[in-house]
Amino acid sequence: MSENQPQQPHSAEFFNETRDYWWNEDFLRLMGERLDFEKVSSVLDVGCGVGHWMFALAGVLPRTTRFNGVDREEEWVRKATKRMNDAGLGDRCEFALGDAMSLPFADKSFDLTTCQTVLIHVKNPRGAIREMMRVTKPGGLVLTIEPCNMASMGVFSSVTDSFPTEVVAATLRFHLMLQRGKRALGLGFNSLGDLAPGMMAELGLRDIRVYMSDRATPMYPPYEKPHQRAEAKQWKDWHARGHWVWDKATTRQYFLAGGGEEREFDGLWEQAGRQMAAEIAAIEAGTFHCGNPHITYLIAGRVS
Ligand SMILES: C[S@@+](CC[C@H](N)C(=O)[O-])C[C@H]1O[C@@H](n2cnc3c(N)ncnc32)[C@H](O)[C@@H]1O
Repeated sequence: MSENQPQQPHSAEFFNETRDYWWNEDFLRLMGERLDFEKVSSVLDVGCGVGHWMFALAGVLPRTTRFNGVDREEEWVRKATKRMNDAGLGDRCEFALGDAMSLPFADKSFDLTTCQTVLIHVKNPRGAIREMMRVTKPGGLVLTIEPCNMASMGVFSSVTDSFPTEVVAATLRFHLMLQRGKRALGLGFNSLGDLAPGMMAELGLRDIRVYMSDRATPMYPPYEKPHQRAEAKQWKDWHARGHWVWDKATTRQYFLAGGGEEREFDGLWEQAGRQMAAEIAAIEAGTFHCGNPHITYLIAGRVS
């Protein structure tokens, strides 16, 4: 695959069907009870993408709640509008272009200001949280959903279970360097979920609550559940296009920015490709299995 892929809108590779299976609705209802969702009549979803998080929230918030969504990408604003219209929720939703660092809303506008996997992509997550606090009403809720992707990388599958210790350790080191490189380039930290509770407390949010999604997407034969089919399809699609978490050029850029040396890169990239190929072959042979958790925090705090 060429390293020079055409420029796509932000996160394009991550908006596939797997995102439809991120939440258990009964778990979100429990979160709604704990966080008093019944008092929420206005919501801002920051970095709304094509509307996956807003759609999940709409299922557990009062039927009269109104939603605003902002994203920096015009294409996502268009697609989110269509998604919510198609779901029959269009009359309760408004979308606009907007930057998380400078939200196009007045102070104290919303009962709930939220984002999902957005702080992991911004250079200054504290600045983004401060902006979310600014547009939230006193007593209102700031709710961020952010992962620790580094932890997810340490998970074993039936394939990696037998890998030599050195290979497992080298892969973890590769991921760590990529995550640190991405952050060094000012593109966000993919394990920010670990640090976000402290940041939110430091910025003055009160009554901080931290929970974790109860959703895993376990893979085991015959992979016939919808989330399993979606997961297998995404892996096969990425592998067929020589993609792995990020494309090769992006991965190289992060690696070098994370302190990696050019001479090391091809070997590590090829090892990642071999692992993916082995996992896909095992799915096809019906021998692949993995608990496949995604370490995802829900972090909430109230504005004074
Ligand atoms: C991983 S996606 C998450 C989308 C959506 N929240 C969801 O969970 O499906 C990250 C989103 O944040 C948007 N984004 C990244 N940086 C942003 C910024 N500074 N301001 C507004 N949106 C931003 C991207 O365009 C993308 O839609």
